[in-house]
Formats: sequence, structure tokens, C-alpha cells
Amino acid sequence: MDDTKDFGTPSANSNKLVTLNIDGVDVTVPEGTSLMRAASVAGFSVPKLCATDSLEPFGSCRLCLVEIEGKRGYPASCTTPAADGLVVSTQSPKLAELRKGVMELYISDHPLDCLTCSTNGDCELQDMAGAVGLRDVRYGYEGENHLDSKKDESNPYFTFDPSKCIVCSRCVRACEETQGTFALTIDGRGFESKVSAGNKDFKDSECVSCGACVQACPTATLIEKSIEEHGTPEKKVKTTCAYCGVGCSFNAELQGDKVVRMTPNKDGGANHGHSCVKGRFAWGYTTHKDRITTPMIRKSIKDPWQKVSWEEAINYAASEIKRIQQKYGSNSVGAISSSRCTNEEVYLMQKIVRAGFGNNNIDTCARVCHSPTGYGLKQTIGESAGTQNFDSVMKSDVIMIIGANPTDGHPVFASQMKRRLREGAKLIIVDPREIDLVGNTPHIKADYHLKLRPSTNVATINSIAHVIVEEGLSDQNFVKERCEDESFKIWLNFIKDPKNSPESMESETGIPADLLRKAARLFAKEKNGSIYYGLGVTEHSQGSTMVMGIANLAMITGNVGREGVGINPLRGQNNVQGACDMGSFPHELPGYRHVSDLATRALFESAWNAKIYDEPGLRIPNMLDEAISGKFKSLYCEGEDIAQSDPDTQHVTHALESMECVIVQDLFLNETAMYAHVFLPGSSFLEKNGTFTNAERRISRVRKVMAPKNGYEDWEITQMLSNALGYPMHYKHASEIMDEVAQLTPTFKGVSYEKLDKLESIQWPCNDEFPEGTPTMHVDEFVRGKGKFFITEYVPTVEKVNGKFPLIMTTGRILAHYNVGAQTRRTKNSEWHDEDLIEIHPHDAEERGINERDWVGINSRSGDTVLRAKITNKVQPGVVYTTFHHPVSGANVITTDNSDWATNCPEFKVTAVQVTKVTQPSNWQSKYQKFSEKQIDFVKNGEEKVN
Ligand code: SF4
Ligand code: SF4
Ligand code: SF4
Ligand code: FES
Repeated sequence: MDDTKDFGTPSANSNKLVTLNIDGVDVTVPEGTSLMRAASVAGFSVPKLCATDSLEPFGSCRLCLVEIEGKRGYPASCTTPAADGLVVSTQSPKLAELRKGVMELYISDHPLDCLTCSTNGDCELQDMAGAVGLRDVRYGYEGENHLDSKKDESNPYFTFDPSKCIVCSRCVRACEETQGTFALTIDGRGFESKVSAGNKDFKDSECVSCGACVQACPTATLIEKSIEEHGTPEKKVKTTCAYCGVGCSFNAELQGDKVVRMTPNKDGGANHGHSCVKGRFAWGYTTHKDRITTPMIRKSIKDPWQKVSWEEAINYAASEIKRIQQKYGSNSVGAISSSRCTNEEVYLMQKIVRAGFGNNNIDTCARVCHSPTGYGLKQTIGESAGTQNFDSVMKSDVIMIIGANPTDGHPVFASQMKRRLREGAKLIIVDPREIDLVGNTPHIKADYHLKLRPSTNVATINSIAHVIVEEGLSDQNFVKERCEDESFKIWLNFIKDPKNSPESMESETGIPADLLRKAARLFAKEKNGSIYYGLGVTEHSQGSTMVMGIANLAMITGNVGREGVGINPLRGQNNVQGACDMGSFPHELPGYRHVSDLATRALFESAWNAKIYDEPGLRIPNMLDEAISGKFKSLYCEGEDIAQSDPDTQHVTHALESMECVIVQDLFLNETAMYAHVFLPGSSFLEKNGTFTNAERRISRVRKVMAPKNGYEDWEITQMLSNALGYPMHYKHASEIMDEVAQLTPTFKGVSYEKLDKLESIQWPCNDEFPEGTPTMHVDEFVRGKGKFFITEYVPTVEKVNGKFPLIMTTGRILAHYNVGAQTRRTKNSEWHDEDLIEIHPHDAEERGINERDWVGINSRSGDTVLRAKITNKVQPGVVYTTFHHPVSGANVITTDNSDWATNCPEFKVTAVQVTKVTQPSNWQSKYQKFSEKQIDFVKNGEEKVN
């Protein structure tokens, strides 16, 4: 399908077809299709201004009039449905006259600056004037008009010039229907009517800068500042957003090799033409002045950096790895890959470790986010991945969101979910914090908000399951047919125990038992119940237990194996799913196959011509501990910033300082790179080929839009290092790496770049049985055969509040920023959020004499830091909350090294703290400032040794 073609109105869903005749051509379309769309399908184009196929028809511009045989008048084709036997004319002298008259009125109130307008040649008003043959305007331009209206330039990324507005309302509808924010209205009537962002500037309004209105605007009224600056693009390349696990498809639009705009792709399987502020606008970091594009080396972190050639840097890194292995043993080196990397890069990282280093010391940042998802789902249902596609939510009757904040973390999917909620699906939110979907989102109100105490997830999910079993609301047929009888009986016995009742658990969870019972009944009684969860589930000492508890709940209610239901982990970073799929955990080869499995090892050994060690390697926390104890001496770290993102920062930096050779491959001198001895400049997502796999298991192409500023794609750098180490790799293109993955991994068997180019994206498993992928998993049976119930005993965390640390601190993220913020902080997104704040309930603030924006010290058992206060009812008394996007905030200086029992995923969400009013930064912050300034200086004043 041509993704630029605009059919005028959305497609209809009906199975019933109707046939009509348009301009002499018979056309058959689904019932409910508009005449405009039917004409477009038949190959005719009806002039239009207020209609576009991403929005419901509105019928305001009167340009799309048609004639219907046997009917009087001239109906608007965008709002008139096609019907059997209609005979329609889209062109006639009378229609031409009417349309010209309409266009004259529009043009007489429009500035005549087409030739100098930034969107000249890319403007629907201009196109329509041409289409209706308008050459001059009879009314002149002297009458009343809007040409002097003031331009709003407050938004950092787009402008609003009301003098060019034709009041077609597309922007208003886009904000409502597509984004679900309702920031815009049409104020006034008739000639006075105008678009308003609540009588405020865009920047100060409810607008979240998703860009949907800009995308929908047919004129230059709403336009990207980058287009005003550079002009309209000459060409485009389809690629995938590198920020979050939604995996939106975009067109990178270019002039020469300069990206001037990113526009969401209508055919994108995950985003269907929608975007959020990050993917749409926050790509400026790719050309930011802070990027380092020349390799650097140094002997000690106390030395300035030396800029060297690629050859010298690679040879130095390889010789250090070899020296260290010779001196301290094979196990003294390892690598950390990242969910920021493409599948192909991650695959090569684990390959270089297993085949080049000769050990299994490879881990990934999923360790600190969704490793419990991998473990818990594998155990219960047999596959470490979500069960659905995003579109499935449109068939949900009740949605349960646990420990996730989709409007901030997964905004484009949140818009789709909000649409379903506006259609009437019920909503249950399980979260210690009042996220926006609880009641701060227009036309959405959660039916139940179970405001649990942090760390009591397992107690809560057990109570929900207890109510369902006790009140006879379970789906016994599903359990009988699809689940293991024995494990179910044991679990049933456990869950029925009165200790799991909401009444018994109320003192732990803080959730009124009656409220929990009502929520449990709602979830069990609605036909299709879906569960969406995030890091608020996984980042706990019982993260894996909770994932299994979620699987138990889905099975007991029969909510797996069809559309509208399922277990849906909302993955944080762009390629968390893919990084895990590609074998970046120390115990698993690609496709989640354990390194101890002889047949799997034999397969890889023969393909790789290398021996694979049969025992799991070190996890990140083990690497750090062993570095401190002197056994682990060298780390190759690509795309990950453990010094900012991992818990207990001082422990992490102590470990990094203890190593003899830290090799960092990244775009910027990030926090970890400040402790590095070799810096290998990385390439941005716009500069390389590869694939990302999103939260729905959707594999999408990342395409090289421009030449890498550092000279190489990231996978090429790993390949060079491997060759220098003596383990040869000879890939000529990223596609060859995917071919190898497909050859060695059953769930990827049918995946190739050729197929991805054809299908746009593929949800794995993709194999002989499902050659075009699998949107819904576990349809007739679970991947493991029968679903397995697990006992999920609630074990309170050891992290306790007491007199010294009376509050629980929990963490999360904000829409404008992304993870450690290394990218978004280098964009104009910082205008919305230039520092991390600590949210505190008014009661707790008052008790401590803390006022809005006061500096407050936050002390935990691990360390202390200082942030400004934000006083809000969003958090409950006894709980404080912060984000972690700025390194100087030191959010992870205070988090502890408690972790999930099964996977070591850190307990980021529960830290006992005290909060007090202070006047100066913490000791750590003062030290950090000095250290980082010095390290930045070491780059600036480094010696140049490049040939
Ligand atoms: S950018 Fe998005 S949120 Fe803002 S007004 Fe436009 S559609 Fe609404
Ligand atoms: S700003 Fe654009 S989309 Fe909105 S009413 Fe005006 S012309 Fe239409
Ligand atoms: S929702 Fe996620 S993938 Fe989509 S544009 Fe935003 S950050 Fe990118
Ligand atoms: S396009 Fe049909 S009335 Fe505007």
C-alpha cells in the first residue's frame, strides 16, 4: 500500500460488501465506507480539505460535494456512506462551480505568500486550489480577514500561525481521536471561530507535543520549525524509532544527507501513523556537538584522552583483553550489551564473548528491567515474551494496568488504549501513584485504583486471585483444557488459604479489601481481560514471583490465546525484547536456549567454529562484585550506561575504577565512559542498518539514513574487535547477521531483510508454520504445552521503613525524557524537564517544613542525594517518587543492591529513605560535579594522535 495516499476517511471494518458505480466504474467496498474513500479506491480523487483518512469525517469544508443519481442536492462525499446500487458523479460543471466558490472563500482569507511559504509544494490548500482550477479570487483581500493573527512559537518544535488557518478542525480532531489529549478546541462561531489551545500558548497548554495536529494540518498553520528552517524534504527513508518499546515506524525525511523531519508512518504496525514527542521531534542528539566521533584511549582514568585512529584503538583494546586474560584467566573479562542496540549488534556482542573471549560473561541492561519477565513467563507459559499485538487492546473489555504509566512511558500505545477506554472498556489500575490514567486524562476514569504500598505487588495479585477462586469466578474449562492439572491443584490449595484474602492482606497492601474484591470481580466477569505491566512489577525483590502471579491470574480467568486478552509486558527501551531474544543473558544462547544444553551448544559450535563454555557466565552484579574483589578486570560495554542506570552508583563506580581496561562504545562520553580506558565512538540509529524488536515481538527494520559520523556502524566495530582478538568475523552487511540468527534460531527461522522489506514488520515466531509471523501467541496450546501454575508466596522485602528511614522512595520516568536521558537531554525536550524532582505528599512535606521547590536531602541506607521538592497528591503519604534522567540527581546513589531472587533485577522501586530540608548539594553530588568536569576536560584537551 502507498503510505502517502490519503483515502480521505478511515477504512470500514464490516464484512458486508456493497457495490456502487462511481464516474462509470463499479467499485465494491465494505459497508460503512464513505463515498470519498470508495472513489479513492476506484482511482478517483475528490477534492477535500477537512477530511483525512486518519480521522473520522467531519463534513465542514463542503469541498467534497458529489452528485448521486436520483437524489437531490450535493452531499458531502466524506460523510455519505456508500450503498448498493448508488450511481455517483464526482465531476460535473455544477460541482466545479460550487467547489471553486468554496475555495475562493478560503483563499480570500489566506496570506498570498505561497512562493515564500515553508510548505510551498506540500500544502493541501494549494493543491486544492489547483485541483478546482482556481486562478483568481473575485472578492479581493481587502475585506475582513485573519491575516494579522499572532503566530505562536512557544513550542520548541512547531509553530502555529493562525493567519494560515482554514478552521478545518483536523488538528482538534487529531488531538482528540488520535492522541486523546483534547488540548485543542475551536473557539467562537462563524467568522470568529479559531483554533485555541485552551486560550494559552501551546507550550503552557495541555499539549504533549505528540505532533498529531501538525501531521493532520493541511496548511502551513501548524508546521515543524525544522521545515521552516530547512524547507521541505527531498526524499525519505523508512526506519524505526530508537526510544521506547512501542517501536513506532517513521519516515526519516531528508534534504541531501540532512534529516529535516521525522514523520510517523501510516503503515507502521505498532503506531499506525501516530507518534510521541520523542520519536517525532527529539532526534537532534544525533548531530549534537557533544558526540564523540574519534576513537580515544588512555592508560588510566586520571589521564587525558588521546584521540587515535580506529586501528590503534581496536588493537589497543584487543591487546588489553588478551593481556588481562593471560594474567587473570579467561573469566576476568566480559561484556554488557544494551537494549538500545539493534538485534544484529546484540547478537555479535554475545558471539564475541562466547566465541572470542571464550566465556559466557555477557549480560544486558534487561537485567535491570525486564529479566523477571523473561524468567516468569518462560516458566509459566513457555515463552519469554508478551502474548499479544498492540491492536489486541481494541478488543479488551477490561484492562488491568500494573506498575506501568503508559501515557509517559509508552505514549503511542497509550493513545490506542485510551481510544479503547473511551469506547467503554473498563479500567483497573494497580499502582502506588496516581498515574494520569487514574483520573487526570480527559474522558477516562479508572473504575478502580488499587493504590498499593510499594513492594506489596505479590500480596495484591494473590488477593485478586483468591477472590476469583473463592467466589467461583474462575474459567474452569480453560484451566481444565489448557493448564497442568497437578500444578493447578497445588496452586489452588495455596491461593484459597485465608492468609491470601484481601482482608488478611489489607494491612500489608494498604488496599481496602472491599475495593480489591470489586476490582477482582470486574476483571473476572468481563469477557476479555488484558493485563499490561511495567517495571513497577519487575523491579522488586519478588519481580519474578509477580510475573508468575500475573500469568496465574491470566490463566485462572481464561485470558490467554485470543485477541483482547493476554499478558503484556510494556518493555522500556526500544529493543529490550530483541536484546533478550538474541542471547544476551549469560545463561542463554539466542532463542532462550540454556548454555548447558548439549544439542544447542553443538549447533552453535559448529556454525561458529568455536567451543562454547557450558556454564552460565557472570551477571552484571556478579561482574561488579568480582571487579571489586579483583577477579574481573576488563569490560566491553556497548550502548549501556551502568554508572547511571544501575543501582547503588557508588558500588558501580568503585567496580569500574577497580578494572584495568574498560572499553565503552557509545555516542557520548556517558557516565560509564568517564571510567573508561578505550572509547569507541558509536553510530546513531540514523546511521546504521539493523532491526529492533518491540514489546509485541514485532521485528522492524532500522535503515541507514545517513553515513555514520564515526565512520562505522556499531556491528562493524564489534567485528573489527573480534578480528583483532583473533576470532574472525566477515559480515559485509547487517542482513547477513540476521540470516545467521534465522539459521540458528527456530523462532526466527523465516525472518530475513527481504521479507521485512516486503511485510514492513514481522512478529516472531516466524517459521514454516507462521511464515508471516504470529500476532497472538498460545492460541490452541501454550508454547510449553500446558500452562503451569506456580506458588507465589508473598515474602515482604527486607528493605523496611523505620524511624530513621520512614518513607518509601519509588522511581519512574517522564514523557519528555528517556531512561538515562543521554539522548533526550541533548534535545529541546529539556525545556519541559531540566531536572529530576522528588514528589512528596503535602502531609509529609508539611511535617518536614518543606515547601514547593525547596532543596531536600534524601538519605537511604546506601547513600544520599539532594533534589528539589514537588508537592503533590499524586503520591500517597509515606511514599516519595523521583525520575532518574539526570546523572547529577544521583537517584541511584540511594537505591540499594536488593534484587529479584531469580534474576537479580534490582529492587529500584523500593528504597526506605528520610527526606529533610537542606541548603546544599550532597557530598556525592559535589564530588560528581568535579569528577565529571575533569573528565569532560580530558576529552576537550586530549592529545590528537590521529594520522
Ligand atoms: S501536539 Fe499532540 S497533544 Fe499537542 S495539540 Fe497537537 S495533537 Fe494535541
Ligand atoms: S490549524 Fe491546520 S488543522 Fe487546525 S484548523 Fe487550522 S488549518 Fe485546520
Ligand atoms: S512511543 Fe516510543 S517508539 Fe513511539 S515515537 Fe514515542 S518513543 Fe518512539
Ligand atoms: S472534505 Fe468533506 S466536507 Fe470537507
